[in-house]
Amino acid sequence: MKKFPEGFIWGTATSSYQIEGAWEKDGKGWSIWDAFSHTSGKTANGETGDIACDHFHRYKEDIKIMADMGLKAYRFSISWPRIFPAGTGKVNEQGLQFYSDLVDELLKYDIEPWVTLYHWDLPLALQMEYDGWLGDKIADFFAEYAEVCFKKLGDRVKKWITLNEPWVVSILGYGQGVMAPGRISNSEPYLAAHNLLLAHAKAVKCYRDKFQDAQKGKIGITNNCDWREPLTRNLEDQVAAQRALEFFLGWFADPVYFGDYPQVMKERVQERLPSFTEEEKEMLKGSSDFFGLNHYTTMMAEADTGKKVEQNVYGNGGISEDQEVILHVDPSWKKTDMGWAIVPWGCKKLLLWIQNRYKPEEIIITENGCAFDNGPENGVVKDTGRIDFYDSYLSEALLAIEDGAKLTGYFAWSFMDNFEWALGYGKRFGMVHVDFESLKRTPKNSALWYKEVIASNQLPEK
Ligand code: GAL
Repeated sequence: MKKFPEGFIWGTATSSYQIEGAWEKDGKGWSIWDAFSHTSGKTANGETGDIACDHFHRYKEDIKIMADMGLKAYRFSISWPRIFPAGTGKVNEQGLQFYSDLVDELLKYDIEPWVTLYHWDLPLALQMEYDGWLGDKIADFFAEYAEVCFKKLGDRVKKWITLNEPWVVSILGYGQGVMAPGRISNSEPYLAAHNLLLAHAKAVKCYRDKFQDAQKGKIGITNNCDWREPLTRNLEDQVAAQRALEFFLGWFADPVYFGDYPQVMKERVQERLPSFTEEEKEMLKGSSDFFGLNHYTTMMAEADTGKKVEQNVYGNGGISEDQEVILHVDPSWKKTDMGWAIVPWGCKKLLLWIQNRYKPEEIIITENGCAFDNGPENGVVKDTGRIDFYDSYLSEALLAIEDGAKLTGYFAWSFMDNFEWALGYGKRFGMVHVDFESLKRTPKNSALWYKEVIASNQLPEK
């Protein structure tokens, strides 16, 4: 069995709204997810993140479990409305203190904190007063918030991720309306995305201008992308698969690496795609110290030559009429509880596509994982499907490294079962089981397996 490169970063990931609970505690303001989940019909069984895993009160217990697993790193997010209850203006010191204590607790066990500044829980006040990500002041508000975090935590936090998956915010939040703020439009996603990119760039500029020299940390962005495999070897389908990748990942990664949107998007989206000024392009280009990637699944792409088949797969098509791509799933592929196909080789192909196109110095898989519903039996959770999933994706990641992908770290999604957004608590992604009645934590067999992987820096023999 081949080893992973020396110093490989092994971690798990979570996000604030999905695990913290304490939704009105210690001066926290409401986020758009508090409002969305409290709106009837928006989430499965009307479930909310009010309590979630109650991590806010149990973080010490959780970090102890992380230490037992031998985790080298832990990726979590800061809830913006805990820091700025009204989104801007007055800072809530109690909120900041929570994250400061969390960071100290991690460092006590030598677990490196990887901090995401925005994992979708926008302060509700900014949605109501400024139209959220559609407003033209939002990027400045984000930079203001980011600066407070750098100042308070940057002496100890050396890895920053500005945004988690701006694609999801744009497409699922402003295009399909299945995530907060629940808007449906075929133009707003492009405006939201534009402001998200500017917010990222401004936060990075602030870090680099004022903090990076002294604090010596790294900052980047995390984008999500599935692999798109051409349905046939016909040129049209190959071009369609490439186009789909550019609409999915290129939309966000091209501005960050090249300073502008992909040409194919400009041609197709036309006046609905905002443009960057020269100054903005400069600010964006090179604005990530590493390539953060969240990857889950693969679909096959077929050129839509006038068939205009209804897109049948939740979310993953983007705005389909702009792309003219029909997506398919091979019926023989096994699926997770999310209905997402398990296609490990797609992970390798995507890593190499990224390496080729953007030539990043480092790629970090900041999320990869699967939902399977296994519960404890006599204190043991036999989540064999999850172990197989991780084993197969990591094997392909290793092959990608051999072929030149500069993958330097991997974060499993997720550390523990949590609130899976609009789908509520029914979809379990954790390596640690959470009983949502008693809030008892039970490490699953996958956690024990991961511990072995981390300790040996390689995949166990099967
Ligand atoms: C990602 C997201 C996570 C988690 C995961 C599983 O898109 O960043 O918060 O929900 O998907 O669906």
